[in-house]
Amino acid sequence: MTTNAFEAGFQSVGSEYETVELPVEGTVPDWLSGTLIRNGPGSFTVGETRLNHWFDGLAMLQKYEFDAGSVRYSNRFLRTESYADAADGTLTGQFATDEDGLSKVLNWVRNIGPPDPTDNANVHIARLDGKFVALTEVPNWVSFDPETLATAGKFRFADSFTCHMISAHLVHDNHRGEHIGHALEFGRTHRYHLFRIPDGTRRRELITTIPAAGKPAYVHSLGVSQRHIILVETPLRIDLKRTLSPFHEGFFDLLRWEDNRETELTIVERDTGEIVRRHAVEPFFTFHTINTYDTEDGVVIDLISFEDESIVNSLSLDALESEGFNGTIPGRAVRFYLPFSGTPTRKRLFPGGVELPTVPDERMTHPYRYAYAQATDRQGANGVVKIDTERGQSVERWEDGLYIEEPIPVIRPDATAEDDGVVLATALDVNAEQSLLFVFDAKTLTERARVTLPQHNPFGFHGRFFSRPQE
Ligand SMILES: [Fe+2]
Repeated sequence: MTTNAFEAGFQSVGSEYETVELPVEGTVPDWLSGTLIRNGPGSFTVGETRLNHWFDGLAMLQKYEFDAGSVRYSNRFLRTESYADAADGTLTGQFATDEDGLSKVLNWVRNIGPPDPTDNANVHIARLDGKFVALTEVPNWVSFDPETLATAGKFRFADSFTCHMISAHLVHDNHRGEHIGHALEFGRTHRYHLFRIPDGTRRRELITTIPAAGKPAYVHSLGVSQRHIILVETPLRIDLKRTLSPFHEGFFDLLRWEDNRETELTIVERDTGEIVRRHAVEPFFTFHTINTYDTEDGVVIDLISFEDESIVNSLSLDALESEGFNGTIPGRAVRFYLPFSGTPTRKRLFPGGVELPTVPDERMTHPYRYAYAQATDRQGANGVVKIDTERGQSVERWEDGLYIEEPIPVIRPDATAEDDGVVLATALDVNAEQSLLFVFDAKTLTERARVTLPQHNPFGFHGRFFSRPQE
């Protein structure tokens, strides 16, 4: 694969489309009724300047509406302060793109405190209190209209919760009717807060607060079972003192891997907030948990692990444009069994490289059999894989030049099998510079439909499927 072909995944999007009917090759099942909304970067330039990191791209929403076998597409940038700043060439405060050293020091002296959090909410989506919200890892979430994708202003919580960072990966528990998330408050002692947002409210209720030992870990997602929450603290730590340096550029430069640390997994009781047990294991880094569930005498947490933090560096635009995803070390799907007493165990769930794991909504927080993920360990393509976590088997699908993104399983209404449904996945054909949406069979990963977009979209992050009718 040539580098040039790969660059399509990091080119800015030029057009916004509104409710365009897309050509479908194959058949989208009639029962699939609802909307897939995805979030991710749509543009990587500020004036004449290129942003530094994949995570910095300006938030753009994509919407795919499924109705009686047809698919309609819309895409729209969030109209945020970051978007306006990018238009006039003054965007700062991003993951790895920030103001120059002198202005940083001057601003620091003037304001004595960290910069205002960005509103470039490009990571994920949630529906909170009936509102659709674009999420990022600082408390500056943005509401949008699910019909038009028009930006509807800052999402305001009905609470007085203080935090400086917040989870963009809320876990929605259909069974208990709440989202679970985490936040980080910087202070003399840095503190993790675990919270719930009961369905039908916009109120974060504190479950517990856990002080960080020294520098706080960069935590991207939690493990949530029916009775427990797992906080995973890796050695990748946030060094706030580096904000004083004129040489740091964005949050990215605050991250430091501390060699003397293990990775700590803390089991918290979800109802009481009590810490049940803390386990320390060999160091690893993780962005994404897959799923978590209770057993009689412990908790199982499945996640994507990396040997260290080098994945974060290899997702900078410089690295990606010279090496593509080929320069990244593949993540591993692993299962930790965390007993309430005794020693934790670890096993590999799948031999290949994977990221962006998903599980059907109905199985989240419960024992489950099938996980889906982007398969990442071949050159010139990303595949999709279905992992049978019970039997250690898997099904994969690859096509040369095709980069498949986060696969989202949607189970058929009234299904009796866990994999009776479809998997929706956007993809970029880098040779044709053409984005596609695939509808795969959730059992076999055979292609049921291939839907062609009117444009190419850059590589995105996360999305959710919202069934119709939307309550
Ligand atoms: Fe993520």
